[in-house]
Amino acid sequence: MINYFFAEEIYSKLLPLEEVTKEVSKKFNKDIKLDIASVRNGCQLPFDPKKSLTPFEQQMYDGLLRGISEFLVKSCYDFKSFTMQNMWYNVSPKGSYNLEHIHGNCDYSGIYYIRTEKDHPSVHFKNPNLVANMRNRPLKTAFNGSLHTGHNEIYFEPKPCMLTIFPSYIPHRVDENKIEETRVSLAFNFNVSWQIRQNVL
Ligand SMILES: [Fe+2]
Repeated sequence: MINYFFAEEIYSKLLPLEEVTKEVSKKFNKDIKLDIASVRNGCQLPFDPKKSLTPFEQQMYDGLLRGISEFLVKSCYDFKSFTMQNMWYNVSPKGSYNLEHIHGNCDYSGIYYIRTEKDHPSVHFKNPNLVANMRNRPLKTAFNGSLHTGHNEIYFEPKPCMLTIFPSYIPHRVDENKIEETRVSLAFNFNVSWQIRQNVL
């Protein structure tokens, strides 16, 4: 028997809020091209759920909270609660890209695609085990299908209303947007409190 250990969880699910995301994306009708954090030629705008949100933003936020809870129920033993740390819109016009980076000071990070097209670039996740990056091995556990780019990197094509959650320490990047349409997503970080069960851990 072969056992595979040290797995990294990357969660992906459609949160079907098409009408809501269409309304939210109307806010972003002007492109701003700046270099901020990992962003090049794009823009990050804060999303603060403690400040007044539009009704559509509120619906999107509530949907995200439900999506995160669902992920934590599936992936963790008895999680107690989670706390959103920070959230921001990523506005990515033609020519913009994200350098490889990780998110510090939090347990998980996520992306929710508000406006995206088929030809927008994927988000690439790299194996955080730097030693494993020395050499690729074509393991049979490799993520199935064409999304696999080598044992040490996978990518997810963006889809409208897709929610992706991953441990914050996983290096990731987004290649250049080569089409005219601007991509808009909401990114966020959160921390989790676990109710540790003695018989499990
Ligand atoms: Fe990121």
